[in-house]
Amino acid sequence: MRRFLITILLWTLQNNIALSQSKQVGGPCQDCEALLDYKMLNISPNSIDTLSGFHENDPKIKITGTVFQKDGKTPASNVILYVYHVDRNGIYQPSDNPTGWEKRHGQHRGWLKTNKNGEYTFYTFRPAPYPEVQEPEHIHIYIKEPNTIPYYIDSYLFESDPTLTEDKKQSLKNRGGSGIVRLEMKNAIWTANRDLILGLNIPNYK
Ligand SMILES: [Fe+2]
Repeated sequence: MRRFLITILLWTLQNNIALSQSKQVGGPCQDCEALLDYKMLNISPNSIDTLSGFHENDPKIKITGTVFQKDGKTPASNVILYVYHVDRNGIYQPSDNPTGWEKRHGQHRGWLKTNKNGEYTFYTFRPAPYPEVQEPEHIHIYIKEPNTIPYYIDSYLFESDPTLTEDKKQSLKNRGGSGIVRLEMKNAIWTANRDLILGLNIPNYK
């Protein structure tokens, strides 16, 4: 038990030192450190991932894209993306034995690391809207560049979502570029593309 506590303590300390040496970008974020859970879970993020619940839920979706540097042209490799969303009841539902931020973010989450061409792909299912609060269906995304702290960008939103009103669209900050995607049926799965531009509309980004 004692060894376990010391390991956790050292791990937290290492994380804190690493983060204090990273570029502080993106402004306040209360839960962006959740991105770092992959270390605790011994996950090595790949450029392709399938979130838990994909096989059990419909409609299934595939989201692909390329992450670019601030110039909008140079592909950005080795960028970690953390995505999470509610289940088909609109709930951030953890599994029976949740680990880390799963308690808050639910079990439908995953990590990606862009490949040498800046590309990423993930498979999941379309989240439902929240049951009570009027909010468009969305998939949260936080990112971490090799030299930054984790920060959030605009969530993925769906063009076909009737609750995505004109007012809501106008209120978006377009962090990393617009998060609104259009789903199209391709190879029997609803597919969307979203490219990201690092630093676009991100506070304190140099
Ligand atoms: Fe949310």
